Amino acid sequence: MNAVKSIFLVVGARPNFMKVAPLQHQLDKRPDVFQTRLIHTGQHYDADMSDIFFHDLDLPTPDRFLGIGSGSHAEQTGRVMMAFEKVCLEERPDLVIVVGDVNSTMACAITAKKLCIPVAHVEAGLRSRDWSMPEEINRVVTDAISDLLFTPSRDADENLLREGVSSEKIHFVGNVMIDSLLTHLPKTEHRNILHELALRENGYATLTLHRPSNVDDESVMTGILEVILELSNQLPVVWPVHPRSRKNLEKMGLIDRIGNRPNLKLIDPVGYLDMLALNRFARVILTDSGGLQEEATVLGVPCVTLRHNTERPVTVEAQANRVVGNEPKKIREALSLILGRNGHQIRVPELWDGKAAERIVTVIDRLFS
Ligand code: UD1
Repeated sequence: MNAVKSIFLVVGARPNFMKVAPLQHQLDKRPDVFQTRLIHTGQHYDADMSDIFFHDLDLPTPDRFLGIGSGSHAEQTGRVMMAFEKVCLEERPDLVIVVGDVNSTMACAITAKKLCIPVAHVEAGLRSRDWSMPEEINRVVTDAISDLLFTPSRDADENLLREGVSSEKIHFVGNVMIDSLLTHLPKTEHRNILHELALRENGYATLTLHRPSNVDDESVMTGILEVILELSNQLPVVWPVHPRSRKNLEKMGLIDRIGNRPNLKLIDPVGYLDMLALNRFARVILTDSGGLQEEATVLGVPCVTLRHNTERPVTVEAQANRVVGNEPKKIREALSLILGRNGHQIRVPELWDGKAAERIVTVIDRLFS
């Protein structure tokens, strides 16, 4: 009989946790075959950017915490690589699974690959074709060196094939984030957050912003806020503010201008379940996040994406998402179209059915048998 295989699951930043949770749970159903080790790089470290997700998603305490923290891209990437290399050398896993496109994803993939440890990338093949996004670099590098590429949509397969990746490495398995969403959705019925914020179902907008292209530039930020303030005259807007955005708003002196309005509710970042509730019951979602575009699609809530491109075109094809950039005029137009319409017809993308992790584990099982 084959020995139990040691599998590293890497998490680093907020958008990783809901992708790793279903994988951890599926792999842990087979303790005779797999032993999982949860490695947290510590790229995100605030309790409300990290700890609360472990609780909400029933994730165990990480087996190793690398404590990397913030820094420039090179510093952060370099620190993750040095710390992760030590752990890999000590434990020699049989497979390293990385998810998404954050700096920790790329750093751990490179480290493992150079130690000749097989690497699996979950959420492979997404491309924005925007090289100003650090995530695009992380995606391309991680995909180029991974041994197993698990894709969430057909366009991702096509992107990889076009880049010359062998079709044997590519596995179209669906969207693992949606596994988490479907598992936890029933719990949103019992959350207090709408009540606490005095929001009515289908009667408010949810906003998230954290991309440097939106929140680091004062004129862009001011333009977006202008539209948000207008919108808040029409319906309440709830904005869980990312630490990066809060720091910038404070630096730009904008926080006082917007902080005291009853209909624009700036709150601290919320955990997975509260965010799911805020998204599920929103009339519209405005965001520059990648994951939220996907969640909005499955929840059937119209999404306005404040970016010039998306690596998730499947959400646009599903008629759930409008990618409008960050000019006030464009955002205004999209909002007026959405708010002037009742009902919202969307098509849930193929294999976004809550079974992606199951399919991934089947492929991994085959790899080892
Ligand atoms: C990172 C990811 C991005 C993802 C986002 C989700 C990269 C390149 N970026 O961006 O793809 O969409 O996470 O949130 O990996 N900070 C805190 N507390 C924390 C974490 C961050 O205060 O727990 C502040 C720090 O000032 C830090 C800044 O936020 O410098 C940015 O953090 P960082 O991890 O560099 O990138 P994010 O903008 O969070």
